[in-house]
Amino acid sequence: MKLEFPKDFWWGAATSGPQSEGRFNKQHANMFDYWYEVEPEAFYKQVGPDTTSNFYNSFKEDIRLMKEIGLNSVRTSIQWTRLIDDLETGTLNEDGVRFYNEVIDEFIANGIRPVMNLHHFDLPVELYHKYGGWENKRVGELFANFAEQCFKLFSDRVTDWFTFNEPMVIVEGEYLMQFHYPKIVDGPKAVQVAYNLVLASAKAIQKFREVNTNPKGRIGTILNLTPPYPATDSPEDKKASHIANLWLNRLFMDSAVHGELPEELAALFDSEGVLWESTPEELAIIKENVIDVLGINFYHPHRVERPEFSSNSLAIDWLPTKFWKDYDMPGRRMNHDKGWEIYPKAVYDIGMDIKENYNNIEWFMSENGMGVSREERWMNADGVIEDDYRISFIQEHLYWLHKVIEDGSNCFGYHLWTPIDCWSWANAYRNRYGFISNNIHTQIKTIKKSGYWFKGVADTNTMELTIHVEGAENFKPVTSL
Ligand code: BG6
Repeated sequence: MKLEFPKDFWWGAATSGPQSEGRFNKQHANMFDYWYEVEPEAFYKQVGPDTTSNFYNSFKEDIRLMKEIGLNSVRTSIQWTRLIDDLETGTLNEDGVRFYNEVIDEFIANGIRPVMNLHHFDLPVELYHKYGGWENKRVGELFANFAEQCFKLFSDRVTDWFTFNEPMVIVEGEYLMQFHYPKIVDGPKAVQVAYNLVLASAKAIQKFREVNTNPKGRIGTILNLTPPYPATDSPEDKKASHIANLWLNRLFMDSAVHGELPEELAALFDSEGVLWESTPEELAIIKENVIDVLGINFYHPHRVERPEFSSNSLAIDWLPTKFWKDYDMPGRRMNHDKGWEIYPKAVYDIGMDIKENYNNIEWFMSENGMGVSREERWMNADGVIEDDYRISFIQEHLYWLHKVIEDGSNCFGYHLWTPIDCWSWANAYRNRYGFISNNIHTQIKTIKKSGYWFKGVADTNTMELTIHVEGAENFKPVTSL
């Protein structure tokens, strides 16, 4: 079966500044740089952010490889810690400006659309020490000022801007589940941080509306949507799933697209005594500064069931939560290397949700991918990794993406995480996601089988479906790794 995609479809991949550039010449440490300095053993094989891929030095060669595999668009991020010298006054760092100018120009010279994100988990750590990071609304103001500098410098050539990557991961990682520094577990703080991130994004969008002069310019945000599916049809499990959806997805979706925080969630937090602090002026900024375009990162769904116990403290109860519990569905298909369920049909459910509940806003799949360890297992005699599992994974997700487009959802692109294997936070280089492998010791980069395959798809705007897709006709499951 051949699936044809809409004209001018974005075929691309996503990375981020802190995961690809390396620390070279950066003026400030971000939260991860600092965490590595004080606790290197928290990182896989003690490989830290100073050993990220070498994009700062090798971006010309890297972009040439991205072109070679047919990418027509690539997302990366501008690092606050590289572009700005004085975080309070926003003075620019000359080398940072030079670097991002050259990167943007190089992408364009190679026929690749540069898609720019402004925050990818990389808060300057000084702002955490001075203000408590995202707990303090002042940091959101400073972020909006940084965003303004980016728009002024680069929006003559960059038309597609995004404020945050996965704000919910900042909330969960830093304030609930301890996978990002400062590894706090504090429900009320998490609620306030979530609100402050909503506000910071709206303030950055406000700046964009003030300073952007490019008629093609548009701005959005990147959200990780994890559709929750209840374990059973019981009212208790359904209620748990409904609340999980309000918090995990609707909080950021509703505020980004409709300019409103979900009332039901606010009422629930209010009754728990943990409602975020807001002012009418702030709520007006959120209302007036909604997004033009949406990026959705999708890796795995959430299976949800009723909580097992409850106390009076949201902070204590949040893990497992007071309102729901994660459910390990028997028989679910897993990527065991990463520990994430593989459920491609969720892409269809997400697309329909956007169509029906979010004004059918233009969106693209801004990340999707499969983290696999020890990929050398599949290296052939020519040194090429034969990652057929990744090709199957992408095919299945593209099948459902194509279907939801056919059914009217306004999706204009697909980006894999990631173009070239890059550093994965505390997991360092354990799981690899790229179309192109990277030997971090020699910096030799080699296109994987999936990269050659993706070029065929991108060049023809058509995908030949060569596998059976779960839920589609003649389904036969692809074996889990
Ligand atoms: C996404 C992030 O959540 O998942 C990326 O935007 C990240 O930054 C990717 O690298 C894969 O997750 P991980 O934890 O394996 O790096």
